[in-house]
Amino acid sequence: MNTEQNVDLTPFNTLALPVQAARYQKITAPEQLTEPELSNDKRFILGGGSNLVLTGNFAGLVLHMAIPGKRLVKEDNTAWYIEAGAGEDWHDFVQWTLQQGWPGLENLSLIPGMVGAAPIQNIGAYGLEVCERLHSLNAWDFEKREFIALDADQCRFAYRDSLFKQQGWHLSGRMAITSVIFRLPKAWVANCRYADVANELAAQQIATPSPQDVANAIVAVRQRKLPDPASIPNAGSFFHNPLLDSDRAATLVAKHPGLPSYPQPDGRVKLAAGWLIEQAGWKGKKLGPVGMYEKQALVLVNHGGATGADVRRTMAAVQAAVKARFDVNLTPEPIFL
Ligand code: EPU
Repeated sequence: MNTEQNVDLTPFNTLALPVQAARYQKITAPEQLTEPELSNDKRFILGGGSNLVLTGNFAGLVLHMAIPGKRLVKEDNTAWYIEAGAGEDWHDFVQWTLQQGWPGLENLSLIPGMVGAAPIQNIGAYGLEVCERLHSLNAWDFEKREFIALDADQCRFAYRDSLFKQQGWHLSGRMAITSVIFRLPKAWVANCRYADVANELAAQQIATPSPQDVANAIVAVRQRKLPDPASIPNAGSFFHNPLLDSDRAATLVAKHPGLPSYPQPDGRVKLAAGWLIEQAGWKGKKLGPVGMYEKQALVLVNHGGATGADVRRTMAAVQAAVKARFDVNLTPEPIFL
């Protein structure tokens, strides 16, 4: 294998943090993962680098997943089953499914990153999580040295969480997802429950939206609120929306009537971290080169030249401000390496 040495990862992480990998290998086919030499080193499996904070040089091997491919696997009366390689760009894949006439992923339009990373943190937006459309996935298990398949139940999905994170595999590099199979139900209904999406469609005077109309509306909403990593480096939402038990949430909402809160099926209540951060004075505020975005306070941005240490400093300051004002702990969403 032509493993490269001392590779700059700046172009491969959307926060544009400048660190080096001691060894770097691009993976373009699943069979490459079976090479014994890839199992020797400390590993990190890199996708689009859009949910990642690189805090220092990485002494091991970075496997950059670039496995291509997208195809209809099968079709039955109820659904289309579509497989995509881990290295397919997520948004391009979603657009492609819509063009083929297979709706169901449109609410996840414009999420940065690659297909193979989508299950790891169970990406979600505008009332849909990827676990609701995921049929199964294929992966290489570096420890057992075999290809495995996991169905959606085995992945133990939860809000921004999965078996991969629960087991620490996203950090240990034990598993490399090679492809994901989606089940897209033929019984399609537009999911426009989120006010932002409904308002955008109303503004465009679309009463009965097609899947592509929903995708376009979501692209418009995201482009208005969220910075494009190509121009303002960022990693999307930087904190989870905190989940509180209902009593604590009720007390907080009574004290702060504007606080957006969303009751969950398990009885807990999700609070809008962006609102908490804005009220704590951090919307558009900077500490050194790292700040919280002026149009969406939940998004941490690198204004230029930041390192992982700068990110940690701003993160800690925001957590402290929210804790002091609301007594709520914010936990970071991205992976720290
Ligand atoms: N809000 C504020 N101030 C802000 C930001 C938000 O008051 O600066 C309020 C909004 O007005 C709204 C509420 O907070 O009432 C929620 O905001 P928004 O709809 O923008 O969504 P979010 O909760 O901040 C989550 C996801 C996003 C996803 C959106 C849309 C998490 C951690 N984030 O953000 O996902 O796109 O909902 O569904 O769950 C990501 O994970 O990287 C991501 C962008």
